[in-house]
Amino acid sequence: MRETGSNETNVHIPLRVNGEEHEASFASYKTLLEVLREDLDLMGTKHGCELGECGACAVLLDGQPVLSCLVLGLECEGREVITIEGIDAGGKLHPLQEAFADLGAAQCGYCTPGILLTAKNLLDTHPNPTRGQIMEALSGNLCRCTGYLQIFEAVEAAIASTIGAGEKADVPQRAARAAARSQPTSKADRQALR
Ligand code: FES
Ligand code: FES
Repeated sequence: MRETGSNETNVHIPLRVNGEEHEASFASYKTLLEVLREDLDLMGTKHGCELGECGACAVLLDGQPVLSCLVLGLECEGREVITIEGIDAGGKLHPLQEAFADLGAAQCGYCTPGILLTAKNLLDTHPNPTRGQIMEALSGNLCRCTGYLQIFEAVEAAIASTIGAGEKADVPQRAARAAARSQPTSKADRQALR
């Protein structure tokens, strides 16, 4: 880290975000949320309460979910940051993104990036979690639209798609019920999940 000459409060540090190296210069008081949105133009991470209460700003830092409104950008030097823009694989949606789009688990979509990243961490660490473990993992992510049921069912559908049919025999039925309740998803809906 070094301070820029023109402004003693600015820092200039390398940041690794979604597998890409960035040279970022920003005011030392900026949160990771602000650096991502304002300096790296990664708008998928959402501003919510900025008080650590809503989960809308969640990203992965060294693989762990963190609330980016509570982390200083300069704390992230030399660490790996993953945002919603970085969870697809070569342009293909992550199974969680597919399930959320298919089952109507994103409505306004404001909470969705934080929920997807938190759920991704859960699936990375517990490939076959119970409904209770899913609820506990997502308990810090608030959603004003869905009532949460579609979200839990979408996570379970993503699990089913990744671990194979049969290991969670009841998931397809729940997913089908959720799909029947949901509105048809459009290309715009899918864009909202990015
Ligand atoms: S914006 Fe960070 S927890 Fe609400
Ligand atoms: S989909 Fe609107 S806040 Fe969750």
